[in-house]
This record gives sequence, structure tokens and C-alpha cells, in this order.
Amino acid sequence: MAERPYIVGNWKMFGTRAMLSEARAIDRAAQRYMKVEVAVAPPYTLIHAVHREAEQIGVGAQDCHPGAEGPHTGDINAAMVADAGAKFVIVGHSERRQDHGETNELINAKIDSAIEAGLRVILCCGESLETRDAGDAEAFVLGQIKSALGSFEDPAERLTIAYEPIWAIGTGRTATSADIEAMHKAIRGLLDETYGAEASADVRILYGGSVKPENAKEILSLPEVGGALVGGASLSAESFLGIVVAAS
Ligand code: G3P
Repeated sequence: MAERPYIVGNWKMFGTRAMLSEARAIDRAAQRYMKVEVAVAPPYTLIHAVHREAEQIGVGAQDCHPGAEGPHTGDINAAMVADAGAKFVIVGHSERRQDHGETNELINAKIDSAIEAGLRVILCCGESLETRDAGDAEAFVLGQIKSALGSFEDPAERLTIAYEPIWAIGTGRTATSADIEAMHKAIRGLLDETYGAEASADVRILYGGSVKPENAKEILSLPEVGGALVGGASLSAESFLGIVVAAS
């Protein structure tokens, strides 16, 4: 497995310039926890400003349009977020799949454009409670990932997976350790089958869904959990760094 746990803050649609002080505090503290890779994904409007402040932490985008530049009012593509200083892009977050009807095909096109722009990709996946209760969680999640894997010639360099059960996002309810371990092992099995165990080993599988300083150590100690994708708890330097400390 990749040598450093990866703790990523997804600020979602929160964050004005007032958040720059939190970004500075996170960046300064991250310099004391070099055994952890730390990154944040601010709204588009703050990517460049956070990039200018960041010396240690990575900065990324929460999404990107799949196309080249063109007449797409209001859209922002991979080359533009890279130009603003982003080094990675989150694609396929369940909130975008739900709010914008994003399909696996559209997400795969975003992945291809992100790789073309030199970005690393955090590919999100996760099931609804209905799917889990029906016993179809593993098949559903692996189906979300499988069609995307062919885009990565160098998965160790470019690909991170984030497993985020939809029913655990923003609810304060995390998946059980047994559920997390089972799903991460299933995802690892698909990566091994697709890329071979050696190349697969360096692809980190993050967990996301109500990760907090209080539960982070237990979650991050589980097999095949290579880090966390954090929403609410990433909006304050204090709580986000509590998770970074738990990973260190
Ligand atoms: O992308 C991370 C996010 O979906 C998790 O949100 O607030 O449950 O940590 P939260």
C-alpha cells in the first residue's frame, strides 16, 4: 500500500475568502505531520487563492467539465482548474451523481479530461441505504468503478478511490468497521484483478462519510483504508487536523 495515508478535505459549497485563514492553519500544521499527505478541495472560486497560500498541502477541484474549452456557459474544465493550481480533481461524488444526474459514462469522460490535463483523480463511489439493505452494495460499488479503471495507464500515480456510503455522508452515522473493511477489501480485489497486485497496492482507497476526530483513528486503522475524504469536519482547521493527527 502507498506509504502515506491521504487525508483530503472536501469543502463542498462552503467557503469564502474567510476560509483562507483555516487553509493557512492547516498548511502550517501539515508541515509537522509529513507522514500524512494532506489536501483540500475548495470551491472553484478559492482554488487559486488556497494554492497561493499552500506550501505543504495539496489543492484540488471538486469537479470539472469533461470537454475542451468552448461555448459552455458557467462550466469549468480540467485544464482550467489545473491552470488555477489544482493538482487533483474529485469526480463522481454522490452529491453530483444525485444533483446533476451524472452517469458512469460522463464520469469516465471527466476522468479522461483530468488525466489529459495532468491531474490526479479521486474517483468517488458509494451505495444508497436501499441498495445496502437489498444486499447489493458491493456489486453496485464495484460497478461504479469497473468501467473507469481502463482510463488509468499509471493507476499508482493518478488514481485514488474514495468509498463514501451515501447514507453516511453528512449524517453523523459512519459505516460499521466491518462494512468498511468488507467494501475496501472488495475494491482492492477489483484493483488487483485489473492492474495486478503490485500496481494496485499503491492505489489508496479512502473512506468518506462522517469522519470526525473522534472516530478517525479506528477507521484509519482498518485494512485497506488508505485515508479519508472529509466533508464537514474539514471546514475547521482544528477538527480537520484532529483527523490528520489520527492518521499520523
Ligand atoms: O466528500 C466527503 C463527504 O462526502 C463526506 O462528508 O460531512 O460526512 O464528512 P461528511
